[in-house]
Amino acid sequence: RFKAVIFDLDGVITDTAHYHYLAWKRLAESQGVHFDHAFNENLKGIDRMGSLDLILAGAKRAYTPEEKLALADEKNLHYQELIATMSASDLLPGAVAALDTVRAAGLRIGLASVSKNAFTVLERLGITDKFDYVVDAATIARGKPDPEIFLKAARELGVAPADCLGVEDAVAGVASIKSAGMFALGIGHPFVLTQADVVITSLSEFNLAAY
Ligand code: G6P
Ligand code: MG
Repeated sequence: RFKAVIFDLDGVITDTAHYHYLAWKRLAESQGVHFDHAFNENLKGIDRMGSLDLILAGAKRAYTPEEKLALADEKNLHYQELIATMSASDLLPGAVAALDTVRAAGLRIGLASVSKNAFTVLERLGITDKFDYVVDAATIARGKPDPEIFLKAARELGVAPADCLGVEDAVAGVASIKSAGMFALGIGHPFVLTQADVVITSLSEFNLAAY
């Protein structure tokens, strides 16, 4: 019944969340801000500057816009060092099979990640050509939970939002899919992804015919 499937990247197709965690932790601690896995959960699906603002809310002083840009660049350089060694072995279980199932069913495939490193990550994973359209995060004005990124993907794929299935691991991402008027498949836990239409543990449970 769907005409397109639009995937998130981090936490759905590959576990870059761990690399984001390491890079943010070093940055936060350099500013005297405590950083742990629980706090990192709040950053899932949130863009770079939005994440930095959440971290610096715990700092002892205010930061100028120039200082914030420098800190965001520092984090990103560290993150890029961490992802430089990624390969196809970093694909999450079921990810390639899910993409191939969608392709075989004749549906269009999009990627909607707010990460400005998404193109690099897809290249490292070796799956760039599995997507008909990848949103360039640099062209997105409003991050998740705003529907902008999923709506843009649908428009570029030439499919109405109501005919799209969105796949997300973040609370903000599921909210973005739902406000875009799409069916939301959550990857994670139903107690967390309460807005999702269906929740599965990982893409290894992906079953297109069931949604
Ligand atoms: C994804 C991740 C976030 C990350 C964001 C921006 O949404 O889930 O943790 O902050 O992308 O990534 P970037 O690579 O542009 O800094
Ligand atoms: Mg994600």
